[in-house]
Amino acid sequence: MRVGVLTGGGDCPGLNAVIRAIVRKAERLHGAHVVGFLDGWAGVIERRTMPLDIDALRGTLPRGGTILGTSRSNPELLDNGLPSCLESLEALGVDALIVIGGDGTLGVAEHLHRLGGPVVGVPKTIDNDISGTELTFGFNTAVQIATDAIDRLHTTAESHNRVMVVEVMGRYVGHVAVHAGIAGGATVTLIPEYPFDIAEVAERILRRHERGRFASIVVVAEGAVPKPGTMHIPHPGYDDFGNPKLGGISGDVAKEIEERTGFETRVTVLGHVQRGGTPTAYDRVLSTRYGVAAIDAVFDGDYGTMVALRADEIIRVPLAEVVHRPKPVSPRLYEDTAQWFFA
Ligand code: F6P
Repeated sequence: MRVGVLTGGGDCPGLNAVIRAIVRKAERLHGAHVVGFLDGWAGVIERRTMPLDIDALRGTLPRGGTILGTSRSNPELLDNGLPSCLESLEALGVDALIVIGGDGTLGVAEHLHRLGGPVVGVPKTIDNDISGTELTFGFNTAVQIATDAIDRLHTTAESHNRVMVVEVMGRYVGHVAVHAGIAGGATVTLIPEYPFDIAEVAERILRRHERGRFASIVVVAEGAVPKPGTMHIPHPGYDDFGNPKLGGISGDVAKEIEERTGFETRVTVLGHVQRGGTPTAYDRVLSTRYGVAAIDAVFDGDYGTMVALRADEIIRVPLAEVVHRPKPVSPRLYEDTAQWFFA
């Protein structure tokens, strides 16, 4: 059997660990060959591949990024794009395709499966917004990076009695913000799921500083939204999957805070630092488990499924039940633990 693998969408720590696990189990236990498609769906359309074997993957477990390259190209936007993908698989003798990606990439996989494509999905993204799984790999690493940054910002904020606004990624959801906010002891955490009132945020900060010389850390998810009519945020552009290109809201939030409180306020946008570098031990383990489970699903012929984490078990869920349904932060976690907890 010949199994194809692709990584699509934004990269994230743990991609190479998934590929490595797929290749090791495919080669050692199933005697199968694995071929990597380069640069996501673009590599399938253009038939650009590289052979993958155990030797080619040596040393990649702790390496960030993806040795296959990735892109946000979407075959659904091309004339005949999905049928071309099926033709490529057939022409290259690829019997099954493991698709490692976030919602956009897995959405294409689901569509391809409806057209007869033998696909299995693996949920990847630092945003942790994929339904049907408790965790996506890469999320744990991103939260750790954001928490380390917040820890560092505390000491400089305290020295200057300043407000520090830290912007983290996450697109439509606030998982990274909430987890890093709790772990880093943020004063306020703003997430897309709960539109914020900037006057209320400023009021909280003022009250906290009145009680003594406390600096404040405000964590802002890049997709956070003000309550209607309270603050203007410029409209973002969109990528090939229709995702907004976010980033920059922290500047607007900081300006408002400084004007309303009179406290010096500084901005840190963590950006792609959250996606780069080595995965945490947790993400290496989760990625390895996902890779092993994905190749097992292929050999069971369980196509149209995605491997997922539930109650510490790796299970399979139908792709059709999980794509295009972004998983929000649990109200319990936000309301009980993150919202205003440290104010
Ligand atoms: O989906 C992962 C993510 O890092 C989002 O958090 C962020 O909005 C987006 O990708 C950034 O995309 P790009 O790498 O294309 O700038």
